[in-house]
Amino acid sequence: MPNMPSSLEDLRRVLEGAVDAAVIIDGEHRVLYRNPAYDVYTGRRPREVVELAGSGTPCHQLFNLEICAESCLMKRAVQAGKPLRMHEVHARRGDGEELTLIVTSTPLGAGLTLETYRDVTAESRVQRKYHSLLARERNAKEELERKVSERTEALRRAQDQLVLNEKMSSLGRLVAGIAHELNNPINFVYGNVDFLAQYFRHLISLIGLYESSELPEDVRTRAVELKKAIDFEFLLEDWERLLKSVRAGAERTAQIVAGLKTFSRPQIGKIEETDLIAGLETTLHLLQPLLRDHVKVHKTLQPLPLVMCRGGQIQQVFMNLLTNAAQAAGPGGEIFIACQPLADGVSVSVRDTGPGVPAELAGKIFDPFFTTKDVGEGTGLGLAISQRIVRSHGGRIELVQVEDALPAGAEFIVWLPCVPPVAPVEAG
Ligand SMILES: Nc1ncnc2c1ncn2[C@@H]1O[C@H](COP(=O)(O)OP(=O)(O)OP(=O)(O)O)[C@@H](O)[C@H]1O
Ligand SMILES: [Mg+2]
Repeated sequence: MPNMPSSLEDLRRVLEGAVDAAVIIDGEHRVLYRNPAYDVYTGRRPREVVELAGSGTPCHQLFNLEICAESCLMKRAVQAGKPLRMHEVHARRGDGEELTLIVTSTPLGAGLTLETYRDVTAESRVQRKYHSLLARERNAKEELERKVSERTEALRRAQDQLVLNEKMSSLGRLVAGIAHELNNPINFVYGNVDFLAQYFRHLISLIGLYESSELPEDVRTRAVELKKAIDFEFLLEDWERLLKSVRAGAERTAQIVAGLKTFSRPQIGKIEETDLIAGLETTLHLLQPLLRDHVKVHKTLQPLPLVMCRGGQIQQVFMNLLTNAAQAAGPGGEIFIACQPLADGVSVSVRDTGPGVPAELAGKIFDPFFTTKDVGEGTGLGLAISQRIVRSHGGRIELVQVEDALPAGAEFIVWLPCVPPVAPVEAG
C-alpha cells in the first residue's frame, strides 16, 4: 500500500472502528487507507481487497458506485473545495448484491480525499414501500372522490329533472287554470259587445223618432232638460268609440287566453307537427305586459317547415329566452328575433342589447339555480330547463357572445331537428 502522510494517523484511528465504510484516496483514485467496514462493503474476499488496494487499483474498481462513471463525487468535492454529500447512490458489491448508500466526499488537502459510505438499503426500501403505499392510498382517495363527485352529479341531475318536471307541470296547471277561469268571462264580453252596439243603434233611432214627432210641450221641455243633464250630444259622439275600445280590449284578452291555452299544453305530450313561428308569436303575446313600450322587438322570421316537437315545451324555451332578453335589455333596449330553415332542421335566435354575459359566467349560466338576479327575481332555472327541453328534442342551445354589435349583448341560438331522433335522448 502507498504511504499515507503521518498527519492523517489520528483520523485513521477514528475511522478504524466506524460502522460506515471509509477510505482515503489520492488524486489518482488509489486507496491509501480503508477501514474494516469498507472491506465488508466491497463484498470481496479480504485477501482480494488487500491485493487490489495494495497494487493501487482505482477505488471505483474496488467498489463500484453508480455515480463513478458519470460524475465522480471526489472530483466534484475537490473542485468545490468543500465536503459534498449524496443520497440514494446505488452500488453493486463484488458479490453482486445491490446497495443504496449515502456517500460523503471530504477533501483533506494535499490531494487526498476522505470518502465514507453508509448503507441505507433497508431504510430506502422501507421508504420506497412507504411512498408506494402513500401513492396507492392517494390514488384510492382520488378514485373515491371521483366516484363521490360522479354520484353527486348524477344525483343533482336527477334532482334537477324532478324540479324541472315539477316546475313545468305546476306551471302548466297554473296556466291552464288561469286560461280556463278567464275564458268564460271574456267570452261574455267579447260575444255580447256587438249586440250591445246594435241595441244602442236601435235605441238611438227610437229617440230620433220621438224627437221628430209631435210631443206635448211639457214633455218636450223635460226631454230637453234630461238631454242636457246626461250630456246627450257627447254620448251620441262617444258611445261608438267606447264600445270599440271594449271590443279591442276583449279581443286582446281573448288572444292572451288562447296563448295561455297553447302554452299549457301538456309537457310530456305528444310529439306533433308544430308551427314554431306561431309559437313565437304566441309567446311574444304572452310577454306583452313585460315588453309593452319598454323594449322594442324586431323580427326576421323566415318561413319554417313544420317541426316535429312538443310545442308547449318549445314555447317554454322561447318564453325563457325572451324573458331573459327583455330583462337584460331593460327599458329602451331592443330584442332581435330571427329564425331560419336549415338543411336538417331550424334555428331560432334571440339577441338583446343588454350588457351580455360576462365571459367568466358563460360556463355557468346553464347550471340549474345559477342566477345573478336578486332573490325573488330569478330562480336560475330558465336556461337549465330550456337546455334540457332542447336536448330532449335532439337539438342544442348555445350562448353566442355578440361582440361586433353595439351595444354588445347576448345571443342565444336554438337548433332543432325537424324530426327528433327515434331513440330517446338524454335531456341532461
Ligand atoms: N340575455 C341575457 N343577457 C345577460 N345575461 C343573461 C341573459 N340570459 C341569461 N343570463 C344570465 O344567466 C343567468 C341564468 O339565467 P336563467 O334564465 O337560467 O335564470 P334567471 O333568469 O336568473 O331565473 P329564472 O329564469 O328562473 O327566472 C341569469 O341570472 C343571467 O345572469
Ligand atoms: Mg330566466
